[in-house]
Amino acid sequence: MFAISGGPAKLSDFGEILHPEQASEPILAKPVRSALLEWLTEIWAAEDLLAVDLKPRKRALFHGAPGTGKTTLAHHLAARLGLPLLLVRPERIQAQYMGASAQAIGRLFDAVRAAPEPIFLFFDEFDSLAATRLVGASTAALDHNHTINTLLANFDAFDGFVVAATNMGNGLDPAIWRRFEIQIELALPGDHERQRILERYMAPFVLPKASLAALSTAMETASPALMRSFAENIKRQIVVGPKAGWEMHRDAVISRVIETVKPHPDLGLPRLWNQGLADRSLALFPWPLLKDASAYPADDEPATTRGAVVPIRKPGA
Ligand SMILES: Nc1ncnc2c1ncn2[C@@H]1O[C@H](COP(=O)(O)OP(=O)(O)OP(=O)(O)O)[C@@H](O)[C@H]1O
Ligand SMILES: [Mg+2]
Repeated sequence: MFAISGGPAKLSDFGEILHPEQASEPILAKPVRSALLEWLTEIWAAEDLLAVDLKPRKRALFHGAPGTGKTTLAHHLAARLGLPLLLVRPERIQAQYMGASAQAIGRLFDAVRAAPEPIFLFFDEFDSLAATRLVGASTAALDHNHTINTLLANFDAFDGFVVAATNMGNGLDPAIWRRFEIQIELALPGDHERQRILERYMAPFVLPKASLAALSTAMETASPALMRSFAENIKRQIVVGPKAGWEMHRDAVISRVIETVKPHPDLGLPRLWNQGLADRSLALFPWPLLKDASAYPADDEPATTRGAVVPIRKPGA
């Protein structure tokens, strides 16, 4: 719940401010990259658009499962525009007093307008704030509907960028939904993206190409966030495990990681978590992990030489 304080509100009363230099580029499927590039091109063409009486679109809704990169993408986008992003948390707006949530929304937009530089507004978990208006005259209904109307009025009066993230997409109030001119769906990553995500977060270690491909298949339905945790946990164990006196053979490390890093309950269980150590992808997982792809035994094709002719391994070789 937001803190009621005297005087004008500060941006930080509503959530974190993420600066452009802290952003990183998410690994995205081609349709999402194309949608993003199209939007950026439009924004950069603002002056040319004005000549034909148009303005670039400024409001987008990102929907996708937890951990698919909605926040990361919004931050990256704000950084591409050179703007700080205010990550608005619903709990900083929602309040139990009648009219207080609507009041908080007014104070938020006042603070954004008063900021010395333009702010890229990002509403996280937007469905919890902007759910469909309620029917009836209960206090809860009147209060929620007042919140929605205040949001609508403030969106209409605001000329800056607004992105909202939701896991569901269809629970939003229809009038709010219509305010978003662009809809971007962040689907779970496909095989190509999964391999790149694993490569990114395993670095500086590299996996041989066959191992990377097998691991990616075993992680079908995993979110990027889960893959990141998996890879980073392995690296953390490699550094910390020997100091802590843990068993450091491959199966011990991987089973600790699978135990620690759990898929989000709303998403399916990827095969690796289903099968555990018995998963067939692990037979190809090299140990110890190396940073130099060429240092693996010659019949393991390093992940970084993608595109080279891969010798087929004889069964039992
Ligand atoms: N597409 C991606 N490419 C690379 N890393 C990603 C990607 N998506 C998510 N990550 C990583 O996973 C973590 C969670 O991502 P993020 O917070 O952006 O997901 P989200 O969709 O906003 O999740 P939530 O629904 O829980 O808010 C971050 O550390 C981010 O670096
Ligand atoms: Mg998020």
